[in-house]
Amino acid sequence: MKLVTERLVLTPWTVDELDDFHRLWSDPKTIWWGANASIGQSREMLERIITQPTWWAVRREGEFLGNAFLRQSPRRTGVLELGYHFSSTTWGHGYATEAARALLETVPHQLIEAPVVPENTRSQRVMKKLGFSIVGQLMHFERLHDLWERAAS
Ligand SMILES: CC(C)(COP(=O)(O)OP(=O)(O)OC[C@H]1O[C@@H](n2cnc3c(N)ncnc32)[C@H](O)[C@@H]1OP(=O)(O)O)[C@@H](O)C(=O)NCCC(=O)NCCS
Repeated sequence: MKLVTERLVLTPWTVDELDDFHRLWSDPKTIWWGANASIGQSREMLERIITQPTWWAVRREGEFLGNAFLRQSPRRTGVLELGYHFSSTTWGHGYATEAARALLETVPHQLIEAPVVPENTRSQRVMKKLGFSIVGQLMHFERLHDLWERAAS
């Protein structure tokens, strides 16, 4: 299973991709709220997420760029939550927006949400480009987040 866009290929994570997964999740610029300190932590996390085919590795011509997910919201039934994390060296090329758009196209009639801290201006720009708007605020991992939503069409 894979999703292909103009520049990117998205595939569900597999255990064989631990090195790429760990490089991303140990990058303190990307995982600013608490990067993984050991490959063991990343392995545990990867083993957990591959049980859900909703987490995708994103590559361009084989080069690993980042992660995107579209999963059941932990807060509201019937709502999906969008998330994206890209290696800091790959920012500023439109990859996160392009990958997220590809995931959203698979669920055109769903209500989608995403919690974003108000200081995360890069993520806010992604949200706006994808047609999300702020509908409220919530505590998430003990931080105040804006809750962004894209209405079901
Ligand atoms: C949030 C995050 C994924 C955004 O990444 P990003 O690269 O800034 O976002 P995009 O993919 O939309 O790229 C945007 C930039 O690419 C530029 N760009 C360059 N070439 C482009 C192209 N061919 N097409 C589209 N945009 C292009 C755009 O002009 C835009 O620049 P701007 O943001 O300065 O206006 C990234 O900052 C990240 O991983 N942050 C850490 C993890 C995180 O906070 N995740 C979100 C939690 S809510």
